[in-house]
Amino acid sequence: MALIEARQLTKTFRRPDKDPGLRGAVKHLFVRRFTDKVAVDHIDLSIEAGEAVAYVGPNGAGKSTTVKLLSGILVPTSGEVRIDGLSPQRDRIALAHRIGVLFGQRTQLWWDLPVSESLAVLRDIYGIDHGTYRKRLARFDDVLELGEVLPVLGRKLSLGQRMRADLTAALLHAPPVVYLDEPTIGLDLAVKDRVREFFRTVRDEGTTVMLTSHDLGDIEGFCRRLVIIDEGRIIFDGDLQAVKDAFARERILNLETETALPLEAVRSALPGATVEAGETPLHLAVRFDRFVMTAGQAVTALAPLTNLVDFHVDEPSIEDVVRRVYSGELQLDAA
Ligand SMILES: Nc1ncnc2c1ncn2[C@@H]1O[C@H](COP(=O)(O)OP(=O)(O)OP(=O)(O)O)[C@@H](O)[C@H]1O
Ligand SMILES: [Mg+2]
Repeated sequence: MALIEARQLTKTFRRPDKDPGLRGAVKHLFVRRFTDKVAVDHIDLSIEAGEAVAYVGPNGAGKSTTVKLLSGILVPTSGEVRIDGLSPQRDRIALAHRIGVLFGQRTQLWWDLPVSESLAVLRDIYGIDHGTYRKRLARFDDVLELGEVLPVLGRKLSLGQRMRADLTAALLHAPPVVYLDEPTIGLDLAVKDRVREFFRTVRDEGTTVMLTSHDLGDIEGFCRRLVIIDEGRIIFDGDLQAVKDAFARERILNLETETALPLEAVRSALPGATVEAGETPLHLAVRFDRFVMTAGQAVTALAPLTNLVDFHVDEPSIEDVVRRVYSGELQLDAA
């Protein structure tokens, strides 16, 4: 059995259908109407120990709900979850020690306590001895620069400070399973880089990580596996690089030439490619399928026409692929 197992996992929320205002509220007292919203719809998911999995999907797709089900915060409407063979509901306490969760959208720190005290409370809850606690804090401090954050009251933290403190809180007990739900939301680039670096260390130590993010920069270079959820259903589960290779085949060769080239001449030198004019007559862009030609072949084919001053190749990112999947332009086969 995999470390994280979800079978036919389903969560339905019941929302009151109420007309607006007092009238609606009174009417709702007598005639209650509800609509059911299936947030997570019969999901099967197995994650092996040590895997880093990206869990992405558009707003409202059911990502956070899945994370809550997998960590025992929510009870499934139907289906099953097993973490290390245990049930997050039944074996809540045993699993609390093995799971770390970070919700970027809201804090788990105590609002009226300085961060240092919030962390000390968690230390006692998890029964971490003082020596280990000091060592771990020192390590978090190294990467996340906690020093400036520790004395600040929860409610006075800036977003970046809050996220660093929340990360420490989520990982303080060195859980083997970590769910990161939008862990870099709202962070500036410098802090983002530092936090991403930190995730890589955590992953390299063998922690199993499920990462949800709208910022696909969090995912690139971090996760090998990509799971895409849409309207509560998993629509793709597979290798991230394979998706890029299969669907992000297009490359763009940007050229600067010594003399202006007629686009027609470039087109006949590169059949199968799309040639577009650039910002000046000396610039042009060639779009090609990397399975049809390489950038080197394209450059070689153009060499007899003019002297090249400069060129660079743009690769599409996983962002392009995922955007096209969300928009329905690309259909991926669920694995
Ligand atoms: N407590 C709740 N009560 C009622 N409906 C809910 C509740 N939590 C989530 N939902 C609904 O379930 C669906 C999935 O929500 P969820 O928060 O899991 O989406 P998400 O993929 O995390 O989206 P986002 O990218 O915006 O964070 C949405 O339609 C949401 O409105
Ligand atoms: Mg969410």
